[in-house]
Amino acid sequence: MSAKVSRKKSSPAKGEQKVLRVACIGAGGIANAHLAEFAKMSDVKIVGLADPIKDPMLKKVEQYKLEESNCFTDYREMLAKLKPDAVSVCSPNGAHEENALAALESGAHVIVEKPMAMNAVQAAKMIQTAKRVKRKLVIGFQYRYDGRSLFLRNAVAKGDFGKILYARVQALRRRGIPNWGVFGRKELQGGGPMIDIGVHCLEMCHFVMGSPKPVAAVGNCYTYLGDKASSTKSQWAGWDWKTYNVEDLAVGMIRFENGAMLNIEASFAAHIEKDVWNFGIMGTKAGGQWDPAMIFADQNDHMVNISPSYVPDGNWAGIWRSKMRDFVEHCLYNKATLSPAEDGLMVQKMLDAVYESASKGGKEVAID
Ligand SMILES: NC(=O)c1ccc[n+]([C@@H]2O[C@H](COP(=O)([O-])OP(=O)(O)OC[C@H]3O[C@@H](n4cnc5c(N)ncnc54)[C@H](O)[C@@H]3O)[C@@H](O)[C@H]2O)c1
Repeated sequence: MSAKVSRKKSSPAKGEQKVLRVACIGAGGIANAHLAEFAKMSDVKIVGLADPIKDPMLKKVEQYKLEESNCFTDYREMLAKLKPDAVSVCSPNGAHEENALAALESGAHVIVEKPMAMNAVQAAKMIQTAKRVKRKLVIGFQYRYDGRSLFLRNAVAKGDFGKILYARVQALRRRGIPNWGVFGRKELQGGGPMIDIGVHCLEMCHFVMGSPKPVAAVGNCYTYLGDKASSTKSQWAGWDWKTYNVEDLAVGMIRFENGAMLNIEASFAAHIEKDVWNFGIMGTKAGGQWDPAMIFADQNDHMVNISPSYVPDGNWAGIWRSKMRDFVEHCLYNKATLSPAEDGLMVQKMLDAVYESASKGGKEVAID
């Protein structure tokens, strides 16, 4: 069935509030975060859900005041029948491209969860389609809305860091292989911790650096724990080790057109003291780190550490509120988004290049 629908212009009458009619494709864990924020907004109405499995949708019907008849196991049917103005794509990575393309073609604006897609080819196609159908496409990168990211980003943009030379990005879990979903299955996710959690720290660091163009990467991936049964106690014990075919640890080094280098480490399982979620940047005039937010500079012949005494939205609730509001205001009021699809594509190219290099034994790979 084609998801193409004719849609009437639904401009509100003068003085009437604009309302964005939203739907979710994929109604699992992260859809809750989207729906919870949409539900708080007076200019948004949640109209429906689509998920191949009924159960996760039914759990949300009462909470979000939906009709069971507005829950669809076929997302194309949902798009055709409900004609949402905007869609949150919250399905596993392997379905992002297909879901986003169908939603865009149906006339809806789209916010797609991270990572944007399985690879840069898919991501580029999503951007081309959004342009062709003149719909908005936003990537769900919530960490760039964090007050710590914005504190550093503004300083970099003002030139306080001088020329950025080097960044170190870490998204490391000591033992945090997800025991739900399909996070251990390469064919459905595109990879393991690099694409699943490395993407978070990579995107925020890249955003803080001013989104420089990546030109080359080297990397390697290692699997040594996730594909084996384990009796070690850990936060998410009992993952599906029999279908696990992604890396436990991925490392990469990315080179940018402006000469800066970025080192990234991402793990679901690594022999380290504790989990790390952070990045640091070194520039010619100053450096900085994300957590705790701090700028390292020289002032009046002294080395000084500058930390904000208050960081707005430096927490999970704040970044989700900002991320979802950004999307809604982009769609309804044409405000610029902080998380454009073009940034998602650049991040995807870096992830692809690290994985490609790993598949070639760590050889350098060019990024176009
Ligand atoms: N931004 C964040 O912090 C964050 C956190 C977790 C997950 N995510 C992303 O959100 C996405 C979903 O992750 P999750 O944790 O909600 O997983 P999940 O397994 O809890 O939910 C995924 C849902 O999608 C449904 N689904 C499966 N195949 C589908 C298809 N072809 N079309 C539509 N729906 C389909 C599943 O039935 C399930 O209900 C992933 O891309 C993940 O990377 C983002």
